[in-house]
Amino acid sequence: PGDPLVDTYGRVHRDLRISLTDRCSLRCTYCMPEQGNEWLARSSILTLDEIERVARIAAADGVTTFRLTGGEPLLRTDIVDVVRRLSAIAGPDGRPVELAMTTNGIRLPELLPGLVDAGLKRLNISLDTLRRDRFRDLTRRDRLDDVLAGVAAAAASGLRPLKLNAVAMRDVNDDELVELVQFALDHDAELRFIEQMPLDAGHTWDRSRMVTREEILDVLATRWSLTPVPGRGGAPAERWTLDGGSRTVGVIASVTAPFCGDCDRLRLTADGQLRNCLFSTTEYDLLPILRRESADEEIDGMLRACVHGKLPGHAINDPGFLQPARGMNAIGG
Ligand code: GTP
Ligand code: 5AD
Ligand code: SF4
Repeated sequence: PGDPLVDTYGRVHRDLRISLTDRCSLRCTYCMPEQGNEWLARSSILTLDEIERVARIAAADGVTTFRLTGGEPLLRTDIVDVVRRLSAIAGPDGRPVELAMTTNGIRLPELLPGLVDAGLKRLNISLDTLRRDRFRDLTRRDRLDDVLAGVAAAAASGLRPLKLNAVAMRDVNDDELVELVQFALDHDAELRFIEQMPLDAGHTWDRSRMVTREEILDVLATRWSLTPVPGRGGAPAERWTLDGGSRTVGVIASVTAPFCGDCDRLRLTADGQLRNCLFSTTEYDLLPILRRESADEEIDGMLRACVHGKLPGHAINDPGFLQPARGMNAIGG
């Protein structure tokens, strides 16, 4: 315990993504089927104490960032307490961890002041389209105005950098890329376009219909001159400045330009499974350990086993690739 979480390829793990629930107020086609998935059993959902225990041990092992995800993390009724308790965790050097969240934004107007007070430092909000009819078709819920209110609340808060995530989709929002960037700029935010990954429960992903990094850059280049920002580190997003200024845009090209070689992420699902990759087929079950009398060393051991079992990268581009059994909403993105 206390040693860094280094895998067999030398990658040091500093980022833990914590999924708080598999439920969501939207039903984005690339994530969940219309009827939702079969939800995780309530009894298997980690309690705040259980999450905090895993997070504390991970921080002692050198994890410096926790990102709260879902489903939709703001649906957790104890979300403010989760933020308060996790943001109070410090690493071995005494420095507090960085606490971030990825959300659909819908409950931000009411919750954001409490979240900031509780210690939330950064927000990424998913926003794929600015058109109401498209939003309704894509998410199967007529809630664009709620999301826009959430973005406005985030923009008005002091939380920076603020990022907006848009999955680029052919014939859905691929004619809106420039508008989305402009909208982000107007809200002092960075727009990040995401290549769609084969993680939807409906297995509808189709490589030939995916909007690629290259296409996205071609479109953006019609409007701005793009200059690469160096120093990406382990971040999924490649970034560019716009017209040589300070404003930026990002692309997360998981499929056509994988960044697995620098991956520093581990994932904890809402039902207590550790995953070493979005696409892993193996999970490391913490639930029984957390629910009997156990030493912290056992949890530390599971973290190390999970890291040790990590493959060099995902196999999306290999023949015979199989999607993981868990849908995106139950992994946390
Ligand atoms: P930052 O810390 O702000 O860079 O956050 P992030 O981009 O890592 O997190 P976010 O939840 O906003 O995710 C944006 C997109 O990146 C989503 O589509 C995620 O599924 C994807 N993503 C995040 N981490 C990974 C990863 O390790 N591998 C892959 N392939 N995709 C990832
Ligand atoms: N491919 C790429 N990104 C996805 N997200 C959800 N499903 C997919 C997918 N199949 C994104 C959401 C959110 C983030 C957590 O993951 O849009 O911004
Ligand atoms: Fe919900 Fe997020 Fe999936 Fe959309 S992407 S259905 S907001 S979990």
